[in-house]
Amino acid sequence: MTLCIIEFELAAGCFRWAHGNELLSMILQNCRCKSLWRNPALPGAARIQTNMTDKRHTDQEMVQGRTSETAMSSEQDNTRHTPVMLREVLEALQPRDGGIYVDGTFGAGGYSRAILNAADCTLVAVDRDPDAIAGGQVMVKEYGERLILLPGRFAEMRSLLDDQRIGSVDGVVLDLGVSSMQLDTAERGFSFRFDGPLDMRMGGRADEDSPSAADVVNTLDERDLARIIGVYGEERFSRRIAKAIVRVREDQPFSRTAELADTVSEQIGAQRHQSRIHPATRTFQALRIYVNGELEQLAQGLCAAEDKLSPGGRLVVVSFHSLEDRIVKKFLAERTGKTAIKSRHLPSGSEDTAPSFTDIARGGWTPSDEEAELNSRSRSARLRAGERTTAASYPRDFKAMGLPFAAHVRGQVS
Ligand SMILES: C[S@@+](CC[C@H](N)C(=O)[O-])C[C@H]1O[C@@H](n2cnc3c(N)ncnc32)[C@H](O)[C@@H]1O
Repeated sequence: MTLCIIEFELAAGCFRWAHGNELLSMILQNCRCKSLWRNPALPGAARIQTNMTDKRHTDQEMVQGRTSETAMSSEQDNTRHTPVMLREVLEALQPRDGGIYVDGTFGAGGYSRAILNAADCTLVAVDRDPDAIAGGQVMVKEYGERLILLPGRFAEMRSLLDDQRIGSVDGVVLDLGVSSMQLDTAERGFSFRFDGPLDMRMGGRADEDSPSAADVVNTLDERDLARIIGVYGEERFSRRIAKAIVRVREDQPFSRTAELADTVSEQIGAQRHQSRIHPATRTFQALRIYVNGELEQLAQGLCAAEDKLSPGGRLVVVSFHSLEDRIVKKFLAERTGKTAIKSRHLPSGSEDTAPSFTDIARGGWTPSDEEAELNSRSRSARLRAGERTTAASYPRDFKAMGLPFAAHVRGQVS
């Protein structure tokens, strides 16, 4: 009898489950099954996937296979997002009574709630997703004037705060990427697990005038598609995938996430079983970053935070992949004086600009083993943080901030 050992992880620990010709155990609630995620060919895998109650994600560790039953409706359910590195965020931010803080990525309000509970402070929370703002109204009622919840992008932090007549703040926190609610809602079109419209615009209806992921794959030429998938997805098969996209769309333009996921999978199917992640993971990440201008938002948001933080104020950023982390790392390395600033806006000889930050999380912090075990999405997280000095802000030169080429191609940065 073939004995197949499958490892389950429970919130409280691990146990082993054996099956041969018949299943010997039932699937438990609140469990995460690594082996089955990675091998959908195993019997029961599809059923297990639909039984999962813990559907936290990591950009680099998406599941194999797709189900429609598990997709959420567009109604926001804020309990589904588990805040990542929350303890460390509070440790770095150190909220204090009377302070004014900015949560630039409100999401399900996990960080916001923790900050408001940690000190008698005021919090300006921002999110570009109208669903997140709608979901947060219950917290506005709960915290009253202490919570100012605003629709918008953190790149526009300066004007958002100016509109509130807030001159400077004591802390800014950014938790980058998408929330579990966004990923789990099929109609948002972020996930290859759930078939939905190929959209990926974080702003949803607020972004109706900007191109969706379908617009991008149906209109860009093969070379640009390959560059986007290669650079933003760090996908080594980018050229092969771009070629296939262009071939397929000649017959029928892409409109659904499943169509794109299948096209990508067909191209790199042979490598599929050697990888922990779904073959479409990197392509979907690339399109999401491009569609939402995520790296430009980050570069602009960091500079806005530098301008708005008062001396002693703290900037805390949690990122989830190397492209984001590289930008934050470079920003803080320059601003803390670790590396010389190379800006075309600086007159020669002025490289010794006084540091505008001190580093308060050397090397970047990563989640505890315990958190990584409990929340798979946290595994790729890295927290970087700096404390604002009294020095002036550095010149704003987005090209010097390490944005990859495609960010310039978009023409959104100056
Ligand atoms: C990872 S979730 C944040 C989760 C949040 N920290 C919590 O504990 O619930 C990221 C959120 O940031 C939002 N977001 C991403 N980029 C943004 C931007 N440039 N401006 C404003 N919000 C953004 C997304 O819409 C999403 O709701």
